[in-house]
Amino acid sequence: MKYYLTTPIYYVNAAPHIGHAYTTIAADTIKRWKRMQGYDVVLATGTDEHGQKIERAAAAAGKTPQEFTDIISAEFQRQWEILGLGIDRFQRTTAAKHAVQVQDLFHRCLHNGYIYKGNYSGQYCVFDELYVNDAKPGDPCPECGRPTETVSEENYYFKLSAFQQKLLDLYEKQPDFILPESKRNEVLAFVKKGLSDLSISRTTIKWGIPVPNDEKHVFYVWFDALTTYMSAVAGEDMWPADLHLIGKEIVRFHAIYWPAFLMAAGMPLPKRIFAHGWLLFENDKMSKSRGNIVRATPIHKVLGTDALRYFLLREVVFGQDGSFSYDALVGRYNSDLANGWGNLASRTLAMIKQYRAGVIPRSDGDQQIAQSSQEITAIVMESLDRLEFSKALESVWSLIGAVDKYIVEQAPWKLAKGGDAEAERLDEVLYTSAEALRIVTALLAPILPESAAKIWAQLGFTTPIDLVKTADLHWGRLRGNQALGGLATVFPRADVKASIEKMMDLESKEVARQSELLGKKPEPAAAVAPGSPQITIDDFGKVDLRVGIVLDAAAVKGSDKLLHLHVDIGEPAPRSIMAGIAGAYKPEALVGRKVVIVANLAPRKLRGIESQGMIVAASREGDVPVLASFLEDVPIGARLK
Ligand code: MSP
Repeated sequence: MKYYLTTPIYYVNAAPHIGHAYTTIAADTIKRWKRMQGYDVVLATGTDEHGQKIERAAAAAGKTPQEFTDIISAEFQRQWEILGLGIDRFQRTTAAKHAVQVQDLFHRCLHNGYIYKGNYSGQYCVFDELYVNDAKPGDPCPECGRPTETVSEENYYFKLSAFQQKLLDLYEKQPDFILPESKRNEVLAFVKKGLSDLSISRTTIKWGIPVPNDEKHVFYVWFDALTTYMSAVAGEDMWPADLHLIGKEIVRFHAIYWPAFLMAAGMPLPKRIFAHGWLLFENDKMSKSRGNIVRATPIHKVLGTDALRYFLLREVVFGQDGSFSYDALVGRYNSDLANGWGNLASRTLAMIKQYRAGVIPRSDGDQQIAQSSQEITAIVMESLDRLEFSKALESVWSLIGAVDKYIVEQAPWKLAKGGDAEAERLDEVLYTSAEALRIVTALLAPILPESAAKIWAQLGFTTPIDLVKTADLHWGRLRGNQALGGLATVFPRADVKASIEKMMDLESKEVARQSELLGKKPEPAAAVAPGSPQITIDDFGKVDLRVGIVLDAAAVKGSDKLLHLHVDIGEPAPRSIMAGIAGAYKPEALVGRKVVIVANLAPRKLRGIESQGMIVAASREGDVPVLASFLEDVPIGARLK
């Protein structure tokens, strides 16, 4: 029986952080669980390396796209190795094997009559690599709120409109195609409104897979990226995927575009798409602009990967948003891992060592605990099948609690003093505790594999825990007379303050290391350099900053930096403005965009053209400039104060 599951392939414009780790850890957990159920599992992940966003990130780092993507893709691979995740296929979209698959999908769709040539003129969000069909110039992206850019180019179109009914039929026939239910409902509502055809190629960017026989086109990055799920297992008998695990913001691409492409190509569809929620940082969305992104490796170094896995899968209900904080992480570690599972392991094993010379005695075990164990095991298995990780963990901890209580009630330390008369009862208590610990450990192996392997070895098993199957979860499988392995504390108690300080210190080192990889200058220590002179409000009032709209934009002959714009700032005639932004913006992307102009700057001539003001953009030294813009609509001519 095969089981093929995937994570999204991650964009290489950012270095890996805890959000990427969240999905990949969940996928690794599912992989281990399916393997325990007897499946031959393949887990694929990879990196999404083409498109405008990456092209720009590479330029900002002063690297070619290929150099840049090589570095960041390797960083993702390294990350998964450090975290000990069982990645079976790591697919890069820049691999030759992948290009073949994308071109094949295109040919099939073309051959079946679902592709035609057209022109797209409208808005595009580079951050989401999303066509925003119904937006007007200057409108923000409905997904991320960032300003959209105007694109006007020849494209190949995919007849998405032909798939409205077919998709609705699919969702109806397979109600669990999209999970959770709330996401399914969102998709249903979206598709019911009607689908417009979708551009699947671009001619104004170069960094992509060429369209066969028409090489001025490269594939639209989502047509390219989604196909990774097939190229990762090309030549194997793995497709269709059993599960695409994704974050909730990319449901539309997976639940609408992807099945439509595959239907058009006459290829089998994935069986399920599960969208989990967002990991927030202390209730705020993690984002580069807020600067509140947390990385996984400092946590791995201080508390171990299992502490992170436990926190993410216990604290956050899978499918809903959840919050990360260092306090809560260390709190959970101490209360549940050190005091819970860790304590059950150490007291059980220590008693066997002390009272039975390190050999687990044989007994049938306590019948009540045996029954609870069987009941709880069934609940955990069902929860894992439904990807209800927090419920699964809660249930395992209820078994840990029951056994703890049992040990206290039976007081084996008293029985040990009772000599031969109590020997059988002591055997029963020790066996019961050990057998419960064995079952708990096996149940936790998919979620907390490193620690489970350690406790498994301490229980005296010599075959790896990875080979445990669900049939082994039955009460009584632990044979008696098994000698324990060497004992050691698996979850030493963490000092809250010291461990948080250590993680935060490592975090800032990791940020600096990743920034260097991304070709960024280290973040300035303070927003304003300490030496910059102060001004009064009156000084500031002298600068007349106005909102304007770009009417036209053109390259300037002989300059690869300058663009010549005409900007309407609400005056009788538009301003002629020269701007050094050609490295960052194509002229056509600026038309219709609202910008900020310094309106009372003395005019000056650049390359013989008068510049009647200055456009406001942000950048660190050496970086590509980013134009100042607004999320809400703002009238032309409005003054910035
Ligand atoms: N490249 C596309 C996906 C193409 S799949 C064919 C992409 N990449 S991404 O780098 O932006 O990664 C998005 C995914 O990373 C999310 O869908 C989710 O799996 C994971 N996450 C990134 N940040 C996250 C949080 N803050 N919280 C939860 N998951 C997060 O989109």
